[in-house]
Amino acid sequence: MDQIKSILVTGGSGKIGRNLIPELLKAGYHLRVLEFEPENPPYDTSKVEVVHGELGTPGLAEKLIEEMDAVIHLANVKERKDLFMKANIQGTFDLLDACRAAGKQIKQFIQAGSDARAGIYYNPRPYPIDENFPHSAYPGYYAFSKVLEETMCEQYRYQYGLPITVLRFSWVHGEDDILAHATTAEPGFGVPVWVELAVTGYQKSYFQGGRNAACCMVHPDGKPCMRHIVALEDVIHGCMQAVGNPAAIGHAFAIAGPSAFTYDVLSKHISEKLGIPAVNFVNPEYHDFQHSLSKSRSILGYNPTYDIIKIVDSAVEYRQKGNHRSLCKYPG
Ligand SMILES: NC(=O)c1ccc[n+]([C@@H]2O[C@H](COP(=O)([O-])OP(=O)(O)OC[C@H]3O[C@@H](n4cnc5c(N)ncnc54)[C@H](O)[C@@H]3O)[C@@H](O)[C@H]2O)c1
Repeated sequence: MDQIKSILVTGGSGKIGRNLIPELLKAGYHLRVLEFEPENPPYDTSKVEVVHGELGTPGLAEKLIEEMDAVIHLANVKERKDLFMKANIQGTFDLLDACRAAGKQIKQFIQAGSDARAGIYYNPRPYPIDENFPHSAYPGYYAFSKVLEETMCEQYRYQYGLPITVLRFSWVHGEDDILAHATTAEPGFGVPVWVELAVTGYQKSYFQGGRNAACCMVHPDGKPCMRHIVALEDVIHGCMQAVGNPAAIGHAFAIAGPSAFTYDVLSKHISEKLGIPAVNFVNPEYHDFQHSLSKSRSILGYNPTYDIIKIVDSAVEYRQKGNHRSLCKYPG
């Protein structure tokens, strides 16, 4: 692969984009960032070329990729029936087709994928799930969109030899997300929504008067649920391993934490760190899952280091330093 010097990044103000941009700059890349948000972008705009625009706008993609060597396509809307066709599907198609039309100019197109494409959580799955597991989105527009985006990428790779890399992120945790997810007194981050699983008076009491407890999701037989998430730091590491890596071309990779966790381990650790009780919540709809990292470790050199204990410890440290959570538009 010829050396990549300039990269178009979409979704620069998002959770992943705003943390990836400084690392790409440190690595010496020239960046052009598609910016959709009207407010000030959360990265150093003096060091990047900012282009304001909306995905799916005719003619935008061609302008965005002019003189670029690579694309990192992160921009996305989530559970929005009214927006996802234009932003995600038309937007991804426009970028892929502009890259195709530019001949050999684009040396790598990195698409943000998601483990949602494998229908995790809501359906029984073999574990570990590997990259060959078929697309099978869970209900809703987000997972459906991730399957359609990946399918377009696969076809542009197959039909036109476009140098695609898909990074399938697990649920990304930064800042104090894990505490916002797994305690009763928090605003709530992701699923399940614990209050909906509170059936006993004891469980319900934790949602009255802001009493705090660490939440342990269990199956109806009492067995703790198993899940696989990923720290933002490991996501950034995975992206950096993929950029400009010839071995990454033509492949999809799981980007998840170093291991899956069970909620008993998570809730016990939060309970000890915060000095609060741990409470079980039965979720009859949940199905365990974990991802195989064999391919991403061996081909990308991906080496994640944030297991669930380290994710919790970082979240506690984040709060102890007096930090406040960034605005989160989609709590999951
Ligand atoms: N955060 C996660 O847990 C997670 C997990 C798996 C996969 N992913 C994928 O990674 C990518 C980045 O995720 P994130 O969490 O940083 O997303 P985010 O929601 O934090 O940011 C999305 C970005 O897309 C931009 N955007 C939205 N609509 C747009 C439009 N119409 N035109 C141009 N830009 C638009 C927003 O301005 C924002 O910068 C997405 O493709 C997402 O599906 C994220």
